[in-house]
Amino acid sequence: MKGIILAGGRATRLRPLTKITSKQLLPVYNKPMIFYPINTLVQAGIKDILIIIAPEYAGHFLNLLGSGKDFGAKFSYEIQEEPRGLADAFLVGENFINGDNVTMILGDNIFDHDFSEDIRNFTSGGHIFAKKVPDPERYGVVKFDENMNAVDVQEKPKEFMSEYAVTGIYIFDQRASEFARNVKPSERGEIEIPDLYRQYLERGELKVSILDCLWEDAGTFDSLLRVQNYWARKNGVSV
Ligand code: DAU
Repeated sequence: MKGIILAGGRATRLRPLTKITSKQLLPVYNKPMIFYPINTLVQAGIKDILIIIAPEYAGHFLNLLGSGKDFGAKFSYEIQEEPRGLADAFLVGENFINGDNVTMILGDNIFDHDFSEDIRNFTSGGHIFAKKVPDPERYGVVKFDENMNAVDVQEKPKEFMSEYAVTGIYIFDQRASEFARNVKPSERGEIEIPDLYRQYLERGELKVSILDCLWEDAGTFDSLLRVQNYWARKNGVSV
């Protein structure tokens, strides 16, 4: 199992914080944001990790993270020249994946959960992780049956479809890059990740697990503050 951390993008929602650095380098309590997804992968036993970054602050990531030795891992890097969408990670990362299974995590998604068992038990197809949220329209959403097979997925649906948001960690088999190539750009000009994993769904091969741990997409001021407070409290600080 290989790992990809997608840490590019422009993070315009976090301006002016992101005017001089990348979102994924901002502090989340006592660590840069990207340490959290790195730790999630490493804790799950994934040591061979590709970090996809935007050109602007690429050197900062290298200075901070280096070879990965400090994390007990091996890091590779790729530049994503333009934020073409989340599914693009499987095209930028195609040579790195090289026909293996792959877990992709977004560089701004923070979990307090151990995914080891899911990674160990993965054999083939696609596996996504959903969480019940009050504001599903902000996310990719999923509907699933009693056997936890996905039956419908949509990116930020305008009409209510499900209260389960799809979180930013995905496990796919070796078809991920091939499926990414089939995805056409959406109205906002991006190749959207639900259009990739829908291809597993259409073959009856998209599994869903429900998370009840902390999960934040730290891409807004409010969620960034919430997740900082969470880790501060976990470290015994009263905030
Ligand atoms: O957080 C979970 C959500 O993440 C999912 O529920 C959605 O299905 C998924 O599309 C995504 O939604 P966002 O609106 O949060 O995506 P955003 O454009 O903010 O990108 C997520 C992260 O990926 C962000 O840290 C920047 C990075 N990124 C994004 C794009 C579009 C890249 O590195 N390259 C890109 O091309």
